[in-house]
Amino acid sequence: MSRKHPVNIGLIGAGRIGSFHGETVARRLVDANLVAIADPAPGAAEALAARLDVEHAYSDAAQLLAQPGLDAVIVATPARFHTNIVVQAAEAGKAVFCEKPMALTLDEAERAIAAARAANVPLQVGFNRRWDPAFAQARAALDAGKIGTPQLLRSLTRDPGPFGGDPGRIPLWTIFYETLIHDFDTLLWLNAKAHPVEVHAIADALVRPDARAKGFLDTAVVTIRFDNGSIAVAEANFSALYGYDIRGEVFGSGGMVTMGDVRRSSMTLFDASGVSSDTWRRDTEHFVGAYTAQLASFAKAVQRGDFTEGPTGEDARCALRIALACIDSVEKGVPVAVK
Ligand SMILES: NC(=O)c1ccc[n+]([C@@H]2O[C@H](COP(=O)([O-])OP(=O)(O)OC[C@H]3O[C@@H](n4cnc5c(N)ncnc54)[C@H](O)[C@@H]3O)[C@@H](O)[C@H]2O)c1
Repeated sequence: MSRKHPVNIGLIGAGRIGSFHGETVARRLVDANLVAIADPAPGAAEALAARLDVEHAYSDAAQLLAQPGLDAVIVATPARFHTNIVVQAAEAGKAVFCEKPMALTLDEAERAIAAARAANVPLQVGFNRRWDPAFAQARAALDAGKIGTPQLLRSLTRDPGPFGGDPGRIPLWTIFYETLIHDFDTLLWLNAKAHPVEVHAIADALVRPDARAKGFLDTAVVTIRFDNGSIAVAEANFSALYGYDIRGEVFGSGGMVTMGDVRRSSMTLFDASGVSSDTWRRDTEHFVGAYTAQLASFAKAVQRGDFTEGPTGEDARCALRIALACIDSVEKGVPVAVK
């Protein structure tokens, strides 16, 4: 499957990140057109379509998939709908970009991967950190052998505070399925030649202890053992008062590479109260470049008919395996093997 320029993309899910991705396709990419939007929330698809000059707005993904001339879709619905929409889109012959997590169970992951394979369409998953320049350069340094053999790895996500969510409306285990899944992909990608063998997760509600009894978790630390002997730590918290803090680190036999900086830029203010810097406050500011570069690479992969451009459905399944092992570990209170 090799296509001519530009790629015609449909957006399924016009919420927070879907609107941002829609804007990226419509305004920031040169090789892609946003041609249709679908969202069942009354007026959501129409409002975004009007803002981005998109001709077609639907309330149902099936209507969008039936539109002639569509090459690819972006799936940006809540996680529990991802797999069915990925399968539907693949069966309709569309290349698929699916937001993380691609699936919530291994069976779902298999279904999504199998559908893309059977339909011969590319399937890419929204692990955008791989496109952040610091993370990409770290991976290049590792590939070049600059820090020798990895021994310790670290990845952390601290969402910007104060936490304003309603714990009652956040699905159980979100911290693993939706937040730390980014860190799991990052660690797997940085430790590219290794496979995870064991996970130990500890989690609590430290931001909203009042919601602990209902199973809400907003803070977690995970250790992961890999089959090359290396050990990784991933951690997350939902309320960093100082900003949106995403960092990574790999320490090896020959040195160390670090990545990520909560400071918005190298501008540092020195005044009567001391020294200070502005910080990132939201993902769509921090990662505007990474989100755009990832969708550009997806559009290029669709044009080339390239099925290997990661993060693939198989990569998403690997990260999901760790998330599932974390849930098992928290429930049992012990380290567990990664299946
Ligand atoms: N890669 C990242 O950094 C990143 C950042 C934010 C969100 N996400 C992921 O993106 C997904 C969406 O997150 P969000 O914050 O935008 O959620 P959201 O709740 O703001 O938006 C979801 C939208 O999907 C719509 N929707 C629900 N069912 C649908 C269906 N069957 N067909 C079409 N649309 C449907 C809803 O009406 C809503 O408008 C989640 O999986 C989330 O984890 C990823």
